[in-house]
Amino acid sequence: MVNICCIGAGYVGGPSSAVIAYKCHDINVTIVDLNQARIDAWNSDNLPIYEPGLDEVVFARRGKNLFFSTNVDQAIIDADLIFVSVNTPTKKTGMGAGMAADLAYIETATRRIAQVATTPKIVIEKSTVPCRTAQSMRTILEANSTSNVRFDILSNPEFLAEGTAISDLTNPDRVLIGCLQTPEGFAAQQKLVDVYSRWIPKERVITMNLWSSELSKLAANALLAQRISSINALSAICEATGADVDEVAYACGTDSRIGPKFLKASVGFGGSCFQKDILNLVYLSEQLYLPEVAAYWKSVVTMNEYQKQRFTHRIVRTLFNTVTHKRIALLGFAFKKDTGDTRESAAITLSSYLVQERAHVAIYDPKVSAKQIKLDLTEPGVGTNEAEVEKHVEICNSAYEACAGAAALVIVTEWDEFKMAQLDYQKIYDSMQKPAFIFDGRLILDAPKLREIGFRVETIGKSI
Ligand code: NAI
Repeated sequence: MVNICCIGAGYVGGPSSAVIAYKCHDINVTIVDLNQARIDAWNSDNLPIYEPGLDEVVFARRGKNLFFSTNVDQAIIDADLIFVSVNTPTKKTGMGAGMAADLAYIETATRRIAQVATTPKIVIEKSTVPCRTAQSMRTILEANSTSNVRFDILSNPEFLAEGTAISDLTNPDRVLIGCLQTPEGFAAQQKLVDVYSRWIPKERVITMNLWSSELSKLAANALLAQRISSINALSAICEATGADVDEVAYACGTDSRIGPKFLKASVGFGGSCFQKDILNLVYLSEQLYLPEVAAYWKSVVTMNEYQKQRFTHRIVRTLFNTVTHKRIALLGFAFKKDTGDTRESAAITLSSYLVQERAHVAIYDPKVSAKQIKLDLTEPGVGTNEAEVEKHVEICNSAYEACAGAAALVIVTEWDEFKMAQLDYQKIYDSMQKPAFIFDGRLILDAPKLREIGFRVETIGKSI
C-alpha cells in the first residue's frame, strides 16, 4: 500500500488529493492542515469549499482511504510521497512586496518534513512557485534532516480551475511531472507517473526537467490571463466605436490558430492565481535583469485594473454622475461562477469603489457568506473600513431582495441563476426605481429583451 500525504487542505490540496483516493482505492491519502476549523469542515457534511462533484468524491472515500487531519507530523512519517499544496500568496511586505511570491508557507512545510521524516520521501511541489524553488527546498531538506534520509523532489504543478476542479482532475488536458535529470530523479518521477497513469492516458502525463515544469505553470497562467486582458482591451475600443465585442471575439475565436477559449470580455479577471502568478513572473524577470520582459507581463495586470476601473466609472457616469444614497444591486461576489472563492474578485474592487461614492450596495451571491463578503471589504488596502461597510453594504438572500428598490443592477459574476431563463426580469424591473439600469459585466444577458421590458442596459464591449 502506498501512503500519500498532502500538506495543505485548500482549494488545490483538498480536491486533487481526494481524486487520487477516489481513483486509487489501494492508496492511502491523508490530507493535513494546521487550520483546525478547515479540517473539521472537511470531516463534516459541510465541506469547506464549494466545487461541483466534490461532495460525491469525498463522501465516497472518506474514512476508507481518504483522511483529513491536523496531525501533520504523523502523516509525514507514514508517507512515501508528500504533496506540498500550501498557499503561496503575493508578499505583502519586505523585499519584492506586491510582486514576489511569499514562500514562507512552503519553507515551513519543507522544514517540518526534514525534521520528522525517518524514511526516504518523494517531496512533490504542487503549489505554484517561482522557477528554481525546488532547489531551495532541496537545500532546506538536506540541511535540516535529522536522520540523514534521502529526499527526491518533483514538480507537479496543478492546472485545475475552480468551478470545474473535479472534471479537470479526472480528465486533465495534461499532468506535468518535472524531475532532476538524474537516475534517482527519474526513478522518483516514475513513481508519480505510476499513480496518475491509473486513470489518465499515458500520453497526457508529460515528464520534463524540474525548471521547465515550474516555469510552465507560471507561463500557462500568464498566457491565459493575457487573452482575457487582450479581449478586455478590445472591449474598450468596441464601446468607443460601435463594434460588438461578442462579434469580434467570435470572429477571432473561429480562427483555428487563435481558438475560442478565454475570449470572453468581462469586468476583469479575479481569483487567487492569475494576478499573483503574473506578478511572480514579473518579479522573476526583474531578478534576471530582464526589465522589458517584466514590463510586458506587467501590462496584463495593468489592463485588468483598468477594466475594473473603467466599468465602475461607467456605472457612475450613467447614473447621472452620482450614486450617492442610490441602492445598487450587485449580483455575484465570487470571482467566477460555481465557486465560493472571492480572492481577488472584481466584486471587491467594485463594491469598495461604490461604497466610497456613498452608494447603498446590496450584494447577493449564491455561495458566498455574508461573513466572507464583510471580511473581504474590510481587508487592509481595499479602501473601505468596518464602519463604512456596516453603513453602506447590505447582504441579501436572493437576487430579488437585492434588486428591490434599486436604481441599478450590476451583473458581477456569471452565475447561471442570473441568466434570463432563470430570473424573472419583469418582476425585478417592477420592483426597481425608474429609470431602471442594468450593467452586464459578464455578457450573460439579452440586452434587446431587457430593453423591451423597459430597462436601460449597459454592456461591457458594446456601445448600445
Ligand atoms: P489555500 O489557501 O486554499 O490552501 C492552502 C492551505 O495550506 C491552507 O488551508 C493553509 O492553512 C495550509 N497551510 C499553510 N502552511 C501550512 C503548513 N506549514 N502545514 C500545513 N498546512 C499549511 O490555497 P490554494 O488555493 O489551495 O492554493 C495552494 C497552491 O496551489 C498555491 O500555490 C496556488 O497558487 C496553487 N494553485 C491554486 C489553484 C486554485 O485554483 N486555487 C489552481 C492551481 C494552483
